[in-house]
Amino acid sequence: MAMEEETQGSLNQPYSGYLRASIPRRPDMELVESDPGTKAGEYLRRFWQPVCLASDLTELPLAIRIMGEDLVAYRDKSGTIGVLHRHCSHRGTSLEYGIIAERGLRCCYHGWLFDADGTILDTPGEPPGSHLKSSFRHGAYPAVEFHGLVFAYMGSPENKPPFPDYDVFRMPDSEYVPYSIWHSCNWLHVQENIIDAAHTVFLHSRTAGLQLQPDMVIMPETEYRETDEGHGCLYAVSRRVRDFVWVRCIHTLLPSLFQPPALMGEIDSERLYTRIAMSRWTVPIDDTHCMIFGIRHFRDDVTDPEYRDRSKVGKEKIDFGPGQTMGRPYEEAQRVPGDWEVLVSQGPIPNHGGEHRGTTDEGVLIIRRQLRRAVRGEMETDLHLPQNGWDTRATYSFDTILRIPQCDSGDDELVAEVGRRAVDIVLEAPEAPGPGRDAAIAERMEAMKESLLAESKK
Ligand code: FES
Ligand SMILES: [Fe+2]
Repeated sequence: MAMEEETQGSLNQPYSGYLRASIPRRPDMELVESDPGTKAGEYLRRFWQPVCLASDLTELPLAIRIMGEDLVAYRDKSGTIGVLHRHCSHRGTSLEYGIIAERGLRCCYHGWLFDADGTILDTPGEPPGSHLKSSFRHGAYPAVEFHGLVFAYMGSPENKPPFPDYDVFRMPDSEYVPYSIWHSCNWLHVQENIIDAAHTVFLHSRTAGLQLQPDMVIMPETEYRETDEGHGCLYAVSRRVRDFVWVRCIHTLLPSLFQPPALMGEIDSERLYTRIAMSRWTVPIDDTHCMIFGIRHFRDDVTDPEYRDRSKVGKEKIDFGPGQTMGRPYEEAQRVPGDWEVLVSQGPIPNHGGEHRGTTDEGVLIIRRQLRRAVRGEMETDLHLPQNGWDTRATYSFDTILRIPQCDSGDDELVAEVGRRAVDIVLEAPEAPGPGRDAAIAERMEAMKESLLAESKK
């Protein structure tokens, strides 16, 4: 749209600030809204969404805001978690000032007591025989606790899906540590960042110093694929690192599941198939704020010592790179900006109409297209059920490091081919998720390497 204006007017002249200042912002409201009744809001409500850390549920109720709704979360003394509309059904006092009971949450103002499903258990000021408490229910959402996060289902009761179960939540010898990070920007900023493969090379490696694994400074061969019948997307970045080809594949699944692979140390040995270090969701608070909720997966194959400290993961903290949370000194943030700075500084709501996108934005365009189709209901919603009759959902993030020496001519193409073949191996694996599948994929990676080495000798 901005391009049309540029061809119509004289915006391409030097010092065009005055002319450009009057171009109206064009937020893509179809994608960014999340209030009840909005298209995207209704789509997002088809899924279980994380709403708080389980550790946030103490002896006091917790006021939360999710997708434009003011809510209160609590764990009653019997251990049941409730997620209720925040304002009391009697006369609207906030239940964040309520008293947690053996069963339910009691409003401080006139003592009404609400159960986790919205049943009104007590209206103590009403006369004996009053039917008021049984004549309606308070707004409530189903909630479950999983790996230290509380998830709620905020959609229509008849559409409630099973709680999702992904292969990576069943990996042996894993420890799962939850975290959350608040952002003062629309959720789509965060979501688009995860599919923006190039920002790792620039923001995290070149423009603001080495923030992650040092070989990420190498511009990779990048392969995007749509997955999950149009509801998922992955990118594989393949790099020549000395004698190795390193393929790093990141998978996302609508609306906001994101799983980056292991946080790597030095690339100094082969790794045939290593799975993820983190699962993450982005949840709108409202149109201009969002929360990242995530789970760090600690396993022995996440080897970099810098990423093995559980105490660095939690509320408003995560153990990778600078600038993941608000609150650093301004000058430090200017000198070493991180994801928090680049996302929040884009403005509270994305101005897609003001962008000038390039070739590195392919992933961003893919997930916008997928999300638009999804919110318009142009394809059946993918509720993250297991595929192929399996008992858990297969996901596709991984690292593969193969010892494949540099070839004198066409090494870039060789590196890209390793990436393509590695992704094919993972996407086409017929085995059900589990150790057997992982072992079979690792064998195929090794066979792929041998085949490429043999081809290069011909
Ligand atoms: S406003 Fe809550 S009991 Fe009266
Ligand atoms: Fe980043």
